[in-house]
Amino acid sequence: MGKALIIGAGGVAGVVVHKCCQNSYVYEEICIASRTVSKCDALKAKLNGGKTKITTAQVDANNVPELIALIERVKPDIVINVALPYQDLTIMDACLATKVDYVDTANYEPEDTAKFEYKWQWAYRERFKEAGITALLGSGFDPGVTSVFSAYAQKHYFDEIHSIDILDANAGDHGYPFATNFNPEINIREVTANGSYFENGKFIETEPMSIKSVYDFPQIGEKDIYLLHHEEMESLALNIKGIKKIRFWMTFGQSYLTHLKVLENVGMTSIEPIEFEGKQIVPLQFLKAVLPDPASLGPRTKGKTNIGCIFQGIKDGKPRTYYVYNVCDHQECYKEVGSQAISYTTGVPAMIGASMVMTGKWKRPGVFTIEEFDPDPFMDALNKFGLPWHEDFAPALID
Ligand SMILES: NC(=O)c1ccc[n+]([C@@H]2O[C@H](COP(=O)([O-])OP(=O)(O)OC[C@H]3O[C@@H](n4cnc5c(N)ncnc54)[C@H](OP(=O)(O)O)[C@@H]3O)[C@@H](O)[C@H]2O)c1
Repeated sequence: MGKALIIGAGGVAGVVVHKCCQNSYVYEEICIASRTVSKCDALKAKLNGGKTKITTAQVDANNVPELIALIERVKPDIVINVALPYQDLTIMDACLATKVDYVDTANYEPEDTAKFEYKWQWAYRERFKEAGITALLGSGFDPGVTSVFSAYAQKHYFDEIHSIDILDANAGDHGYPFATNFNPEINIREVTANGSYFENGKFIETEPMSIKSVYDFPQIGEKDIYLLHHEEMESLALNIKGIKKIRFWMTFGQSYLTHLKVLENVGMTSIEPIEFEGKQIVPLQFLKAVLPDPASLGPRTKGKTNIGCIFQGIKDGKPRTYYVYNVCDHQECYKEVGSQAISYTTGVPAMIGASMVMTGKWKRPGVFTIEEFDPDPFMDALNKFGLPWHEDFAPALID
């Protein structure tokens, strides 16, 4: 059917490449392009020889003319951005200039401000519409599948959804005292930022990690959960009919939180540049350099993730509750694609989202978040490509 240009060659990109090769009917050809071309070549060496033809390229995705030249040379039908959120706008600029569809998994945030919001990418709506191309934003698990779950609940089970609790549990153990499961810089920026939740038409900010609860997760058990700000709340607040409350919860173990507190207290999580031996360095970037590479956690991580949404609302005049979730096993993911479940649960939906656009099912000019499309073909694809989901109509609720 077509050709995708995959930008980035980290943990998530590795899964995207594996999954594109499993879906060679759609992905006849892929080009893996990133800053460090040897990582692209290593992925190619692992997967070459199947039905999907693989090429590689070096690119600095902060540089729009370089990106344009690459897109003009490769001539892809779509660009899958699995580099870092800092590159979202430059890659969108290059897609606009070349009239090629765009997909990513995380919304833009400027490097010098740890605050991710859709406003920068939503500002491209008119230009993408006029160019006749699609931008699909946030096609990972959360955001991504959590938004598909929301659209599915809205379509099939509710007349009005009044509240959504998004629950992200990782019960994986990698054996290190402290490590992050995806890019440490992005991960630590996310969890040290203020929390927030949506209630009655507005967002309420909270101190980082100040709201805690406990939830007994299917197949995982009881875990401490903490309220965080997360990007899908911003678009769900606009697109889900009748919505009054949205919260996002993530599990953290005590050891992770204690390490994080110490690192924060000594200034190691700061994104303010400092002078060190005559050089400007960003403490958080230095910390990233000394922490384990998330891609190396695959063989060591044991246990499961459980990510899903609990919806409460009304159907035919009666109250209804619905929980939909996926459970993913770190070791099973490693056996299949050589990565742990965090990269897996992000890479599979990125491949599916791009295939929705490539096959025309979700092809619409403009800039969209996932819940704006028909969820059914995506839900089918989740079952087919390794992220099966489960439903519960009487789940325990979070107070
Ligand atoms: N929605 C979700 O559920 C979800 C969950 C987890 C992660 N994510 C997102 O997924 C994305 C990838 O995460 P990851 O864990 O795979 O990160 P990663 O392992 O750090 O990989 C990032 C890749 O991007 C490349 N890159 C960085 N800057 C670049 C530039 N200027 N030009 C070209 N390539 C560049 C890196 O190149 P080098 O190899 O040279 O460093 C690396 O290969 C991130 O945006 C993250 O926020 C989304």
